[in-house]
Amino acid sequence: MAEEKKLDRREFVKCSCAAGGGLLLATPMGALAADTPKENVKSRGYAAIDTSGKLVPWLFERRPVGDHDILIDIKYASICHSDIHQEKGHWGPQKYPQVPGHEIVGIVAAVGSKVTKFKVGDRAGVGCMVNSSLEKLDQVENQEQYTPGTVFTYGYPEKDSPTGISQGGYATNIVVRDHFAVHIPEHISFQEAAPLLCAGITTYSPLMKARLKKGMKVGVAGIGGLGHMAVKIAVSKGAEVYAFTTSASKVQDILGFGAKEVIVVDDLSKLAAYQGKLDYMISTIPYQYNVAAYVALVKPYGTFCQVGMPERFEVTLNALGLAASRVNFNASLIGGMKETQEVVDYCADHKVLPKIQIIRAEQINAAWESVVNKEARYRYVIDAATF
Ligand SMILES: NC(=O)c1ccc[n+]([C@@H]2O[C@H](COP(=O)([O-])OP(=O)(O)OC[C@H]3O[C@@H](n4cnc5c(N)ncnc54)[C@H](OP(=O)(O)O)[C@@H]3O)[C@@H](O)[C@H]2O)c1
Repeated sequence: MAEEKKLDRREFVKCSCAAGGGLLLATPMGALAADTPKENVKSRGYAAIDTSGKLVPWLFERRPVGDHDILIDIKYASICHSDIHQEKGHWGPQKYPQVPGHEIVGIVAAVGSKVTKFKVGDRAGVGCMVNSSLEKLDQVENQEQYTPGTVFTYGYPEKDSPTGISQGGYATNIVVRDHFAVHIPEHISFQEAAPLLCAGITTYSPLMKARLKKGMKVGVAGIGGLGHMAVKIAVSKGAEVYAFTTSASKVQDILGFGAKEVIVVDDLSKLAAYQGKLDYMISTIPYQYNVAAYVALVKPYGTFCQVGMPERFEVTLNALGLAASRVNFNASLIGGMKETQEVVDYCADHKVLPKIQIIRAEQINAAWESVVNKEARYRYVIDAATF
């Protein structure tokens, strides 16, 4: 395990809540009356402080629990490759310290005076969105991720946040507008529910739009956190799944997830036999790759969906390759809140569960390296009791 880099004392005091008085301790406190003084919430987590990909322990403050907010006492948070991309600056410069994490589950510890969706003690989950500048959200049902005003879970400018940006789920608690939290049913463990809040919804949403039918041939490229959920969800809907992996060591696992065939792409020539065979394909590959070679596996006028988000969000397309395959290429961003509740319920009801490894907070840095090296099997879930 790499040695943790600590914040220097001046930086620590500036950023942490330790020096300030009058902070709200994040212990269960029930419903907040409308006239309750709104005070910042004290939190403890792991933050990136630069682009090194090494996180350090950090004490910080969150925004107060507003009338429409809930405070969640986090039990588990899992690691998405997006956490790594963003903190390493792959998607653009960041403000630090920044706490990543957008696969979050826990127990509601307090509710604002106007919250009716949750009560103290409820099991709740939070994904990639936490707030909105819009007063009313009923018009944007299931489109929140594409709606101006939405605040994403970490690193996003947030007016009331003491750090100026939203801070994510690698922490002891989180404050979130009730609209952006979902209910976690009793018949799924917190640990297995966490990855559904991003890996689950990001693959479920485009797969549902593909109107999967029994026997439909579905390709999945990149079998990591997202990819293994894509395989499991498509299999559960009756699809015939072809999994394309660069890791021979994953073959038995992926067959166990229900894939009909696993193709080890150690050379692009391995793709030739599948050209024009698939009805639909989803790619989770997180770095630049030969997109046209994979797109060509789909039948003419079928759909290829890119959900992997490489550096600068860029993928390189070959226009002639796309033209030759006549495939519809698109991309998809997570999913709306209605669909997020739907995927959590669906996976709980049908036992479509992620394969996870539980880790302690001090293992996060090593886990990030494992994710980048394709060694995760298949989602690391951090026990928040260790922050
Ligand atoms: N669109 C969205 O809304 C959304 C939401 C969440 C995440 N994402 C993005 O989706 C991507 C995947 O996230 P994740 O958490 O599933 O990551 P992950 O767990 O690291 O899985 C990605 C998998 O892709 C394959 N892969 C990795 N590097 C590769 C390379 N250089 N060339 C070819 N294949 C490679 C590996 O699978 P094999 O070993 O099977 O080859 C790896 O396990 C990331 O870019 C992430 O930011 C997008």
